Amino acid sequence: MSQLKLSEEGWSNQTIFILAAIGSAVGLGNLWKFPYITGENGGGAFVLVYLACILLIGIPVLLSELALGRAGQANPVQSMANLSRQNSASPLWFLLGLNGVLAAALILSFYTVVAGWGAAYFFESLQGAFIDITPDQAGTHFEGLLHNPYELMFWHSALSLLTAIVVAKGVKSGIERAISFLMPGLLLILLVLLGYATTTGAFGQSFGFLFYPDFTKLSWAAVLTAMGHAFFTLSIGLGTMMVYGSYLSRKHSIVKAGMWIAFADTLVALLAGLVIFSIVFANGLQAGSGPGLLFQTLPIAFGQMTGGWFFGTLFFALVVMAALSSSISLLEPAVSWFEQNWDIKRLKAAWLLGFIIWVVGIGSVLSFNDWADVHFLGERNFFESVDFLTANIMLPLGGLLISVFVAWVMKQEQRYAEIELEQGAMKWLLMDLRWIAPVAILIVFATNLVGAESTWVMVTVALVVYAVYVVNAIRNGHLNG
Ligand code: PHE
Repeated sequence: MSQLKLSEEGWSNQTIFILAAIGSAVGLGNLWKFPYITGENGGGAFVLVYLACILLIGIPVLLSELALGRAGQANPVQSMANLSRQNSASPLWFLLGLNGVLAAALILSFYTVVAGWGAAYFFESLQGAFIDITPDQAGTHFEGLLHNPYELMFWHSALSLLTAIVVAKGVKSGIERAISFLMPGLLLILLVLLGYATTTGAFGQSFGFLFYPDFTKLSWAAVLTAMGHAFFTLSIGLGTMMVYGSYLSRKHSIVKAGMWIAFADTLVALLAGLVIFSIVFANGLQAGSGPGLLFQTLPIAFGQMTGGWFFGTLFFALVVMAALSSSISLLEPAVSWFEQNWDIKRLKAAWLLGFIIWVVGIGSVLSFNDWADVHFLGERNFFESVDFLTANIMLPLGGLLISVFVAWVMKQEQRYAEIELEQGAMKWLLMDLRWIAPVAILIVFATNLVGAESTWVMVTVALVVYAVYVVNAIRNGHLNG
């Protein structure tokens, strides 16, 4: 990993890059996870905490990750190797890149499975399967899908295939082309659904649910969920934004791009929430029904309402399109690593990696049926284990190390060269990256590792370790700025 390899292909222009990064950020996290965790955690107060997390942790880490990619000029592994050399830091920093590439691949393995539920529902909705469906039938329907490994396999394969096809074609003729029809489509569908939501008669109630904070409903666990979700929804903490940043030309502004990405991602999550809860409340259904909100609760509403066939089908089309623009970005880090460091042609790399990740995904398919009781990490089945490992360990770890690298290790000139901020704003960013983001992440991380009971022990240990690291490094003059 000694020679400096550059990402040769770049984005055609800044707009398409921003769209692609928004495409990565907007996905199942916005349409499926955000609404159901908001519903489970009582609405308004949770949304407020989530917004604070986006602002205080999400945006700073997003800017940092894009900066690392553009400064490193290569896939995440090579970028970190390049950056550690440029900043005379430990060569082991390449592990941060490797963690990202692996986490993205692991997330992709189950992402296509869940996106597959959306695809199945799209076709079923199209055929009128949800017309007049009762709550019981909707429940049985969803369980029927989960208990049918062949059907899950079919959709998992279809989405994996589509992802590999796009990535195999490369940045310009694959990713950009897919994005330029997926993103306008997504926006259009969301606006049509929003228009519909205002006619349901429950739009005001939905608005109140999302924006009226009732802090009695907020728990410590909800705060942790919000923080974890801020990472997942912005696609940060792993190699995705780094690799997208590496294709970004020096002419363009990382700050502007980062703000657009965070703004659009948050807007889509809030709009999706408004649409979904309007439909849920208008039909007298429960907001807190958990992961089944999208697949069990919404179909009942679509089945009851006028025009439900049309809006339901449109809704699941939105889910699939949003998922696809994210799954592409999950395959790209590994493919660019294979291409640049292992000299494997993109076409071959995309198919090979797509295949390996598809095989791993079979474990998640089976978790809902034949392997439901086969445990991997602790009491978790395969799907839950991969989800836990990535969302609770690899993402926060990646986010933590990204903040530490940019805030403590990177040279001041490089920071200013990548993140075009005025001195005052840069000071704020650095303070955030040094103290707020890492400490918050350490707390989430510690809790996720040991469970809420012994959190305080772990948090204290983690904070002490961080403090020792910082003090020691300052004393040895290894830190910049
Ligand atoms: N941000 C995507 C979503 O909200 C998921 C994702 C995570 C995509 C990490 C890429 C990298 O669904």
